[in-house]
Amino acid sequence: MTLNQYAIWFATLMVASLGFEMPLHALGNRPLAVLQNQKEDTLRKAFHKSFAMGAAIPGAELNAAERRLLFANFNTVTPENCMKPLSLHPKEGRFRFAKADALVEMAHANGLAVNGHALLWHKQCPDWFFMEDGQQAGRERVLQRLRTHIATVAGHFAGKVQSWDVVNEAIDDKDEYLRKSKWLTSIGEDFIAEAFIVAHKADPKAELYYNDYSIERRPKRDKALRLIRDLKQRGAPIHGIGIQGHWALDSIPFQDIEDAILAFHSEGMKVAITELDIDVGKRKTDGADVGRLERVRADLFANGLPADVQQRLADQYAQLFALFLKHQDKITRVTFWGLHDGRSWLNGWPFQRTNHPLFWDRDLQAKPALSAVLALTRKKADKNPQPMAIGDSKLSPQP
Ligand code: G3I
Repeated sequence: MTLNQYAIWFATLMVASLGFEMPLHALGNRPLAVLQNQKEDTLRKAFHKSFAMGAAIPGAELNAAERRLLFANFNTVTPENCMKPLSLHPKEGRFRFAKADALVEMAHANGLAVNGHALLWHKQCPDWFFMEDGQQAGRERVLQRLRTHIATVAGHFAGKVQSWDVVNEAIDDKDEYLRKSKWLTSIGEDFIAEAFIVAHKADPKAELYYNDYSIERRPKRDKALRLIRDLKQRGAPIHGIGIQGHWALDSIPFQDIEDAILAFHSEGMKVAITELDIDVGKRKTDGADVGRLERVRADLFANGLPADVQQRLADQYAQLFALFLKHQDKITRVTFWGLHDGRSWLNGWPFQRTNHPLFWDRDLQAKPALSAVLALTRKKADKNPQPMAIGDSKLSPQP
């Protein structure tokens, strides 16, 4: 470190300790010291030899404390909503990139890679894609719109995102192979292959994932394996599978998760855990089907999480991460769906209540789950196999 760099670093620490916020550009790639109660290592450092650590964020509009937490603990981000078709392409031919561009700029200025989410989904997708003259549009029209959308979006972010969730949640939850979405009914089964082919053409360096919830379990796991083989047969470039990881306390399917990681890996897929959280409230619905809401019930943890539940959350997160570390040679990235409890979608799904599914609480204080998971990396040290190489090294997450 030169004298000049040292002076900037020291001034940054001093200003931060006085409670002022430094402008982002002054922070460069160096995250500020973490929050007061987080005396231990940061997530990104502890896991840098294993896999990338990510968080979903709404955009660049985080407050200063949230930014500190993000830059210190994570080396990759996923936009929670602002890269979905509804946000980027609300009207045909009218693209709105400003919000997503700001997110990418903030991430890169602070050494974080970006995973794009999601090129195609049945939710948050405007109806115009499927309509023509007030009627259901024909296959060729919808296919052409799919191609234009993906070529434009993946082209716009080419060289800026490390990976894409190309198609999200296309597998059926019940007896069918694929979900009966408007994409399927308008185009047919090959819409998924088309999406991967166009995305690859627009950004040949991006890693391309199929992303879904509950695909660790049968029968969805078997359908995901069928999809991987179908895509390969059609010559579609798929590189990995995103297991979303929206699990619930006391019912995490550990064995299924391990079996699924092994099964996807044996098909030549990289595996990412893309939307991790553990719901501490009771609910009837598995997975993350946003369309399935439940009747509002008591808000059990409105005043905080009781110590015993907090401990179970810590233990179960530790068990999960022990599994991820065991398979770090197959896993590229673990991303939490939200930065802290106050920003979790689980406060509103499947009904409104106060949820506590992540590593930091609403006051951005680290929870016991973080310590429990960090402790694993101290125990494991260098005993593990080499982590999996991910993507273009320029865009890869920094330790
Ligand atoms: O932006 C509008 C705002 O203009 C409006 O006033 C407000 C009123 O409801 O809604 C705002 O939109 C909300 C949007 O999030 C942005 O905050 C939508 O109502 C709300 O439905 C939407 O929820 C998102 C959900 O996907 C949509 O289906 C969640 O934030 C987001 O976390 C969630 O993410 C999904 C992944 O993409 C795929 N896997 C499951 C995961 C969890 O559902």
